[in-house]
Amino acid sequence: MTPLLEARGLEKRFAVRSGMFGRRQGFVHAVAGIDLAIAAGETLAIVGESGCGKSTLGRLLLRLIEPDAGALRFRGEDFLALDSEALRRARRHAQIVFQDPFASLNPRLSVGATLAEPIRLHGLRQGSAVADRVAELLELVGLRADAARNFPHEFSGGQRQRIGIARALASEPALIVGDEPVSALDVSVQAQVLNLLSDLLGRARAGGPGQQGQPLAFVLISHDLGVVRHIADRVAVMYLGRIVETGPTEAVFGRPAHPYTRALLAAIPRHEPGLAPRPAPLSGDVPSPLAPPPGCRFHTRCAFAEAVCQHEVPELLAAPSGQAAHQVACHLRDRLPPPPPLAEAGDAAVRQRLAALAAFFDRSPPRPFEQQAQDRQGASA
Ligand SMILES: Nc1ncnc2c1ncn2[C@@H]1O[C@H](COP(=O)(O)OP(=O)(O)O)[C@@H](O)[C@H]1O
Ligand code: SF4
Ligand SMILES: [Mg+2]
Repeated sequence: MTPLLEARGLEKRFAVRSGMFGRRQGFVHAVAGIDLAIAAGETLAIVGESGCGKSTLGRLLLRLIEPDAGALRFRGEDFLALDSEALRRARRHAQIVFQDPFASLNPRLSVGATLAEPIRLHGLRQGSAVADRVAELLELVGLRADAARNFPHEFSGGQRQRIGIARALASEPALIVGDEPVSALDVSVQAQVLNLLSDLLGRARAGGPGQQGQPLAFVLISHDLGVVRHIADRVAVMYLGRIVETGPTEAVFGRPAHPYTRALLAAIPRHEPGLAPRPAPLSGDVPSPLAPPPGCRFHTRCAFAEAVCQHEVPELLAAPSGQAAHQVACHLRDRLPPPPPLAEAGDAAVRQRLAALAAFFDRSPPRPFEQQAQDRQGASA
C-alpha cells in the first residue's frame, strides 16, 4: 500500500550566528537524514529530548520549512515539487496543531471566523452550511456551538487548544501534526485535551468525524512517553537529528532495543502534582548539536559503547524483538542484554499514573462547556 506520506533522506541545517555582526559560527544539523512513512489513519509519535529535532522534522513533513536535501511524497504527489498555488491546495490535507494555542490563534478573529476561514478557502461548504459546520466542529471538540461568537482571549488554555484542534479539523485533512499539543497546558487540563485527541483519533480512524470518508493520520510530537503509549500506533525515537529506533508502540515500549530508548523509558515523567519529574538515567549531557559526535551520535552517553560506535554510523535495521517494522540503529543490537520489562523497570508511581491515564481515556466523552468553565482556574495560558 502506498503510504500517505513518505520522507526519504530528509535533512535540515540551520546557520548559527553570534556576535554584533552576526558572524556565522557553524551549522546545527537539526534533521540529519530521516526516512519515515505514515499510513492513512495511523498515529505515529515522534519522541526524544528537547532540541533533538522533533519540531524541525514536523515542519519539514508539512513543508512549513524547506529541507536542504531529501524527498517527500504526500498523497502520491512529489510534495517538494508543488508550486505555491498547488501547495496551498495541498495544505488542506495537512494541518498542524501548535504547542501554544494562544500564539497560534488570531486574537482579532472570533472563533467562528477562525473556523469558517479554511472551510470557505477550500470551498468545503457554502452559505449557511458554513455556520452549521462551525457549530459541528465546536461540538466535536467539546465546546458549545455559541462559542463561535467569542474571541480567543475569552477562553482558558485548554479550551483554546480545543479550538486549535477544531481549526486543524476544519479543512478535513488527511494528516495532522501535533507539536507538543498539550505541554503548554496545566497538568489538570492536559489529560482532558489528550482524552479528546484520543477520542477524535479513534473515531477519525474509520473515516469520520466529518472526514468525508478520509481517515485521519496523526503525527504526535512529544517528549512524554506516558502520553505516547496511550495514543500512538507507532513510535519513532529521535536523538540529535536521527531516528534511533522505530516500531509498533507495544514493541518499542515492551522490548526497547536502543540503549537510548531504554533510558528514556526509565524516565517517564510523573504528572502527579507536586512531584518533580525524575531525571533521565543518562550519563553526561546532550552533546552540542553544533558538533555532534561522529559514528553513533549517542556514543558519548551510552553505557554499552564500543570502539566501532565512535566512527561508524549505525543503520536502522531489524530489532531483535522480531516484530514487524521494529527497527533500531545500534551496532550492538543483537548483543545487548534483554531490556527489563517496563512494569518492573518503572516505579509504582509511574505505573499508577499510566493506569489512571488509561482509565481516563476509557471513560469519557469530552467535558461539556459548563464544566470547562472550571478549567479556567488553574489553566495555564
Ligand atoms: N530557526 C532555527 N534557527 C537556528 N537553529 C534552530 C532553528 N530551529 C531549530 N534550531 C535548532 O535545531 C535543533 C532542533 O530544534 P527543534 O527541532 O526545535 O528540536 P525539538 O523540537 O526536538 O526540541 C536545536 O538545536 C535548535 O536549537
Ligand atoms: S551503536 Fe554503540 S554507542 Fe550507539 S547505541 Fe549502540 S552500543 Fe551505544
Ligand atoms: Mg519542539
